[in-house]
Amino acid sequence: MTNLDQIVARALADLAAAADPAALENAKAGYLGKSGELTALLKSLGALAPEERKSAGAAINAAKGRLEAALDARRAELADARLSARLAGEALDVTLPARGRGRGGIHPVIRTWQRIEAIFGSIGFDVADGPEIETDWYNFTALNNPENHPARSMQDTFYIEDKDATGLPLLLRTHTSPMQVRYARQHKPPIKVIAPGRTYRVDSDATHSPMFHQVEGLWIAEDISFADLKGVYVDFLRRFFETEDLQVRFRPSFFPFTEPSAEIDMQFGDGPLKGRWLEISGSGQVHPTVVRNFGLDPERYIGFAFGSGLERLTMLRYGIDDLRLFFDGDLRFLKQFS
Ligand code: FA5
Ligand code: MG
Repeated sequence: MTNLDQIVARALADLAAAADPAALENAKAGYLGKSGELTALLKSLGALAPEERKSAGAAINAAKGRLEAALDARRAELADARLSARLAGEALDVTLPARGRGRGGIHPVIRTWQRIEAIFGSIGFDVADGPEIETDWYNFTALNNPENHPARSMQDTFYIEDKDATGLPLLLRTHTSPMQVRYARQHKPPIKVIAPGRTYRVDSDATHSPMFHQVEGLWIAEDISFADLKGVYVDFLRRFFETEDLQVRFRPSFFPFTEPSAEIDMQFGDGPLKGRWLEISGSGQVHPTVVRNFGLDPERYIGFAFGSGLERLTMLRYGIDDLRLFFDGDLRFLKQFS
């Protein structure tokens, strides 16, 4: 075997043995690089006699061609191996069952909202909606609750930096009662409406949350009395709780926008708080000053209003002792209602 044949045999073995692209390039440099063995042979051709030079040159070039072909083949092999390894690493099992979409349910408080709309809708109440960012005038002043009046402290308020046209700060409505004024100023009596929605106060414990829901009710005509309030509201409760067996009381209270005023309490019939009383609503006969702010003559128009807590009604309906459960987003709790 000539010297050239030996070099080619060794080179082919080295290229085949290279396990990764870096080893392959190293092996290549040993033969075809600047100071590689084959390159050295080519350089030594100059020392040969012309006729020898021709045949030796042809043999070396042929050897070089074989090595380059072997190098290309090995490069391709290594690239293939790398791709296969990557594909195996990122394998996707298309036979696995799909993850699917969980079935959603309606939140218990929204369920209460929908039931309230259905019940009041069935006895002729319109349903209205209004802004959660309110002006001082609608939330307080128009409801006979003037600036600096101590009754304002009954509702600890979130104010907003932006001001209204009169220069007073805007606020997150503390109750749905501003909807009484908004609605009454745009409709002719008889006025018979509910306005459910979100309300906000700086409050937080087992029966108070900073964001909660109220439903406002308003019935104004020429002959609507406190007796109608009791009749309509107790009938609503019987239908909402689907039983005649309810413990309800109207407790004398104060609101600047009603006179007389009452808070409505109900007793838990079930659950860990069985027998405990819970306030569900404020209510009363609409104050003459507020009727005037409706744009109506209080000598002619009279009626009642109420504002009830939707979380509280939901707590009583399902026997839940802590309203914070409604806002935790815990599926173990929420799934019980879907
Ligand atoms: C009012 O908000 C009056 N606007 C109600 C009213 C309307 C009176 C019309 C007369 C005429 P009060 O602050 O009591 O009143 O709230 C009414 C109801 O909202 C409460 O009985 C309670 O059920 C619910 N509530 C009040 N604050 C919270 C709170 N932080 N978290 C959950 N529910 C609340
Ligand atoms: Mg109250």
